[in-house]
Order: sequence, then structure tokens, then C-alpha cells
Amino acid sequence: MKKIAVVGATGLVGRTILKSLYEEGVAFDELYLFSSRKSAGQKVMFGEIEYTVSELTSESFDNLDIDVTLMSAGSETSKKFAKDILKGSRYLIDNSSAFRKDPSIPLVVPEVNFDSIAKLDSQIIANPNCSTIQLVIPLYFMNKLAPIEKIIVTALQSVSGSGIKAVEELKEQSVCSLNGKKVKPEVYSDPIAFNLIPRIGDIGTSGYCEEEIKIMSETNKILATDISICATTVRVPVFYCHSESVYIEFSEKVEKEEIIDLFNKTDSINYYKDEDYPMPINFSGRSDVYVGRLRNDMSNSKKAYKFWIVADNLKRGAATNAVRIAKKLLD
Ligand SMILES: NC(=O)c1ccc[n+]([C@@H]2O[C@H](COP(=O)([O-])OP(=O)(O)OC[C@H]3O[C@@H](n4cnc5c(N)ncnc54)[C@H](OP(=O)(O)O)[C@@H]3O)[C@@H](O)[C@H]2O)c1
Repeated sequence: MKKIAVVGATGLVGRTILKSLYEEGVAFDELYLFSSRKSAGQKVMFGEIEYTVSELTSESFDNLDIDVTLMSAGSETSKKFAKDILKGSRYLIDNSSAFRKDPSIPLVVPEVNFDSIAKLDSQIIANPNCSTIQLVIPLYFMNKLAPIEKIIVTALQSVSGSGIKAVEELKEQSVCSLNGKKVKPEVYSDPIAFNLIPRIGDIGTSGYCEEEIKIMSETNKILATDISICATTVRVPVFYCHSESVYIEFSEKVEKEEIIDLFNKTDSINYYKDEDYPMPINFSGRSDVYVGRLRNDMSNSKKAYKFWIVADNLKRGAATNAVRIAKKLLD
């Protein structure tokens, strides 16, 4: 009998995990859903069956014997409840940043490093940051053509990356701005409608903000590399899907056609030809990574390339990644 639990089932990622479990055809016999006290008692449909969400407490997992728990309830909740969950769950796949830096815990993108779970023999598996996931998928395959030596990435991140309240904030501010009214920002430090906020998380003494540090450290951990990476993260007034402008330098010359051929052969990547390009408005609810605008850096011809990546942060950048890990663990 296969049993799955979803913690944070009422949140943006949690709800998307339920969709992904269905779409990815994960077979299970029992499903348990948890939230904070605020949403406990809410009814959630999965296929034809209605489930009731329960409050997560330190006793919730006692005697449950769950195979895989998928958690997306913020890093403080993950840190607080992980041990209690593991008393009644074989694996915990965590979407927060709570365990990502821990060298004893695998940080997994299933297409890239699923084997790190067995190597580290860990019950906790960290799901990477949404911007990191969509970045490492093309980089992992490109790094096979020739070692990558340098990456410069600018991530333009949608508001759904900050949860349900941020989506509401952008909607409200957009309507109010068009009607000439001002609304005080709550989720963000600055207005997000019709604006760009050039930091995500606090800016540290290094001059980098928290999200930039996550992309830089997580990319090398997943790829098991020591590539020089420089990231810039910007919050943009887009509801769903993150976009990234990427510059990479290989250690040796690589033909553009080799890269295109590689993208076309890779299942998780959809490549757009030169005159066409992916945009965030088109890919909400999709589980692939969309790549376009591939071009040589004219000053460093054939060793350096620029390209553009779009993916749904809730799907590919969170839920589908976690669900694909769960599916492989349950097989
Ligand atoms: N949004 C993204 O694109 C994205 C991508 C990757 C990773 N993540 C990470 O995933 C996590 C959730 O993000 P989200 O966007 O889904 O946020 P969200 O929409 O605000 O949802 C938060 C969820 O966590 C639950 N929760 C909060 N405190 C809890 C507690 N003490 N015990 C049990 N459940 C609790 C909430 O339940 P209530 O309904 O009861 O409040 C809700 O279900 C965060 O760690 C985030 O960093 C998000």
C-alpha cells in the first residue's frame, strides 16, 4: 500500500503538487493533507475524491507510515516539524530553503542528480529554488558538450514565487493604480504593479541578495561543479513563470548547432528557433523548460553564448520537480 502526504496543501505550491501528482500519474492508495490551523477543515478535491485538510502538529505523523511526504510550508515550519514528520514518513521532500545548504542532504533535480539520494542515504531531500531548477536543466546538458567555466544570470521572477498573498497584492495594486488609487505594499517593500524591484530577500554584506546567493550556491551543489557564477534577481509584475537571461562561457569552442541539437534531443527542454522566443505569459501550468534567443557572444565567439529561459516556477520550479522525485522513490 502506497501512502503520500502533502504539507502546505492549501498554498500555491501545495495545490500545484496535487495537480502534478495527478498529471504525472503517481499511483498511491492513501493521501493525507496538512496546513496550519488557519486552513484546517478545508475541503480539497483530488480527482473525484474530496479530502479534508488537517492541522499539522507534532503528533500528526504518529503511526501514519507514509512513504513520501511533500512539504511546502515555509522554512521555519520545515525546520520545526521535519523530525516529527520523519517519525511517520520514510522520505520528506522539502520545497523550502531549510535544508538546501546542508552537505548531508541531497538537493535534487531528477533529470540531473537523482542518484545523489542513494549516495547520501538521506531521508530528507531538498527541492531546489525555482530559479535554480530551470537554470540547471539546460546547463547540465550543455556542460556535457564542454565544461562550463562561467555563468552570468539575471532572473526575472514572478510574484507567485512569493506565495498566494503576493499574487493578490499584484492584482489589487494593478487595479488600484489604473484607478489612480495608491495601496500600501505588504508582501513587498515597494510597489510591484508597473514596477521592477531589483532584489529578492535581504541584501547582505557581499552586496548580493538572498535569492542571488541561493542560485549561485545551489547551481554548483546540484551540478557538482565549481563554476564561477554571478546572479542578479529582480521581482517583476508577472503572475506566473520566471524568466532568465543567461550568459555562459565554455572552456573551449562549441558550435551553436551542437547546442541546438542537444536542446532538441532533450526531453525536458523545448527549444525556440532564433526568430521565435518563449514568454512567461504562455507557459503557466506547464512542466517543461523553454529556451530561446540562443546566440554567440560576439566578443568571445563560439566559447560564449547568451540565451533566454522561461519556466513555470510553481510547476517545473517546485511541484513537478518534487513530484517527479517522489514518483521515482515510489517506483
Ligand atoms: N511559490 C513558488 O514559486 C515556490 C517555489 C519553490 C519553493 N517555494 C517554497 O514553498 C513554500 C511554500 O510556498 P507557497 O508559495 O506555496 O506559499 P503559500 O501560498 O503562502 O502557502 C503556504 C502553505 O504553508 C502552510 N503553512 C504555513 N504555516 C504552516 C504551519 N505552521 N504548519 C503547516 N502548514 C503551514 C499554509 O497553510 P495555511 O493555508 O493554513 O496558511 C499554506 O498551505 C515556501 O517555503 C517557498 O519558499 C515556493
